[in-house]
Amino acid sequence: MAITDIAYVVFDHQDLAPVERFYLDFGLQLAYRDDQEIAFRPALARGYCYVARRAARPGLAAIAFSASAREDLEAAARFPEASAITPITRAGGGEKVTLTSPDGLPFEIVHGIEPYPALPTRAPATVNNGSTKRRHGEKLRTPLEPAPVLRLGHIALLTRDFARNFAWMQSRLGLRPSDIMYDEHVDDQVGSFMHLEGDGQWTDHHAVALFPDARPRVHHVSFEIEDLDTQAMGSEWLGRQGWKRTWGIGRHIYGSQIFDYWFDPSGNIAEHFTDGDLVRPGSEPQLVPLDDASLYVWGPPMRPADFVAMAPHHTPAEQRD
Ligand SMILES: [Fe+2]
Repeated sequence: MAITDIAYVVFDHQDLAPVERFYLDFGLQLAYRDDQEIAFRPALARGYCYVARRAARPGLAAIAFSASAREDLEAAARFPEASAITPITRAGGGEKVTLTSPDGLPFEIVHGIEPYPALPTRAPATVNNGSTKRRHGEKLRTPLEPAPVLRLGHIALLTRDFARNFAWMQSRLGLRPSDIMYDEHVDDQVGSFMHLEGDGQWTDHHAVALFPDARPRVHHVSFEIEDLDTQAMGSEWLGRQGWKRTWGIGRHIYGSQIFDYWFDPSGNIAEHFTDGDLVRPGSEPQLVPLDDASLYVWGPPMRPADFVAMAPHHTPAEQRD
């Protein structure tokens, strides 16, 4: 089964108006809106990547991955926990198979969603480094505006049973470990950064990150932006609009991204990232420690346990009564 990309996430929110303001300030574009939901798209030629659904209680409603062919959807529908193939009723069409992870989180494998045409975006800043000057006689004037989101990049999940969910992510979503994290001893494996095998080309260091916690839930959703200048400008914009920062700006270790995390109005965490590592599918995973020094190289002080604890305790939609 070939899963090529992370397609979209769906979150339930009690009040859509502030959620719309937040995600527009965050740099997503409105794809469409109806009575029940608002869909946002990124600037690259993709389908919608974030859907905000009106609901009585907030929480994660779906994490969707794209399959490259309908046969992959047929293969997915044969997993014992999977639904039959059903049409997606949103604008953009397509079909999906839904399946629940061992931790009870809602996943979809989707195919055939119509992408939106790419939007014009600013070119990356031409940077004059200390040793290499590339900008001669031109001024750099970054406009103060939301940082344009190019695409959905990854999700970070908290898992109660690492071994089981790690195996499930590999067998159901074709994810492969880039790094496997251990506690105390290398045999005590507790988390992983996982990449998509896709078509075998260079790919993001992680499309899914798994961290241990007693309460399984989504920790954050992460969107790629152009460069550091855009990162800082987007941060400035969100701050000036009064939104609440979670943590940033800093540089991660595993995956190397420059990160900036913000709370949305329902308490979910959304990340801007840029300049992440790429891996080639098939490369050997690295065994790395999960300790207080493993989260970032530079940035405001933060311990992994405190970072994990910031994720809201919303119950996924299908586990509610
Ligand atoms: Fe992240």
